[in-house]
Amino acid sequence: MYSQGLIGADSSTTESEEFLAAFQSRIDREEKIEPNDPMPEGYRRTLVRQIGQHAHSEIVGMLPEGNWIARAPTLRRKMALLAKVQDEGGHGLYLYSAAETLGVSREQMTEELLAGKAKYSSIFNYPTLTWADIGAIGWLVDGAAIMNQIPLCRCSFGPYARAMIRVCKEESFHQRQGYEIMMELAKGSEEQKEMAQDALNRWWWPSLMMFGPHDSDSQHGDQSMAWKIKRFSNDQLREKFINATVPQAKFIGLSVPDPDLQWNAEKQGYDHGEIDWSEFKAVVSGEGQMNRDRIRDRNKAHDDGAWVREAALAHAQKRANKQHIPQEAAE
Ligand code: 3HC
Repeated sequence: MYSQGLIGADSSTTESEEFLAAFQSRIDREEKIEPNDPMPEGYRRTLVRQIGQHAHSEIVGMLPEGNWIARAPTLRRKMALLAKVQDEGGHGLYLYSAAETLGVSREQMTEELLAGKAKYSSIFNYPTLTWADIGAIGWLVDGAAIMNQIPLCRCSFGPYARAMIRVCKEESFHQRQGYEIMMELAKGSEEQKEMAQDALNRWWWPSLMMFGPHDSDSQHGDQSMAWKIKRFSNDQLREKFINATVPQAKFIGLSVPDPDLQWNAEKQGYDHGEIDWSEFKAVVSGEGQMNRDRIRDRNKAHDDGAWVREAALAHAQKRANKQHIPQEAAE
């Protein structure tokens, strides 16, 4: 899918037993791998795959929330949502930049997304039906993202880890403002409380799917753990999220839509029901409620933004001409 990157070493050296052993001991010594370090092609590829999907998720994630900026109930809510959506665009930028250090271009990644060929998180293929959905997204989706992204700050690949440190600083504001929306609605009129409960009912299970399949079905999990890209498995992070979030729902008087949810004193965590994996597979394979809308809207946003890209390039070219910098270096 993506061409060989900037990595200096050719495959005959980076795939030898000797090199792989030396590379693994670097990882085990908690050394950061930087873009120009020789690395196994599998390490590069899985990082391009995961960082690219992560970046796409940030950009596509702007769409469901962007829908509600003009309909926010107060100026304060509008400002908070505007800031959050702008942050997500910036997160996408950091992540595309991190992926580019591995030899893929932003244009390639963008083309894949616009053509509907790139993966992004299943969570963004659900509709935002009421204002409470904006609260549920901040509280649950960004809450799940934080659970997943904090360990990524210690990822073995330097640019990804550093991008995550920056992202996580903004995620806590995202999660707080969402939980505050849910808290206000839950304390409001009967209709508002029902709206909050309805949003929790619709977003709870899709949020659990964000952590990926069970470890036993996780195609990349073991290797990503060995390479310290992942620090925890899908199920470990999902359990941490459930254990942290259920008390938050109780605190604002909402109930988690899982009849099997039960505190297990022995394991000091919640036992819970099973995810509908057929729904997960359907959404991931493009059959979600909003998959087509999201790609259509992403294409429209890209087309509408063409003039900005052209203007920026023209400006860069003009400056380059003044400084006699060759064309390709100006872009
Ligand atoms: N949606 C779509 N695809 C998913 C998925 C999901 N929720 N969960 C897993 N998958 C895909 C994987 O990409 C992989 O497919 P691929 O081989 O075609 O890439 C397949 O299912 C098998 O899953 P694995 O567990 O083997 O894959 P990973 O080891 O990559 O684990 C992951 C999946 C936990 C999502 C991991 O990729 C990850 O941690 N990614 C970084 C975090 C991320 O992307 N979060 C998405 C949300 S970002 C967000 O919410 C922004 C916030 O600000 C709103």
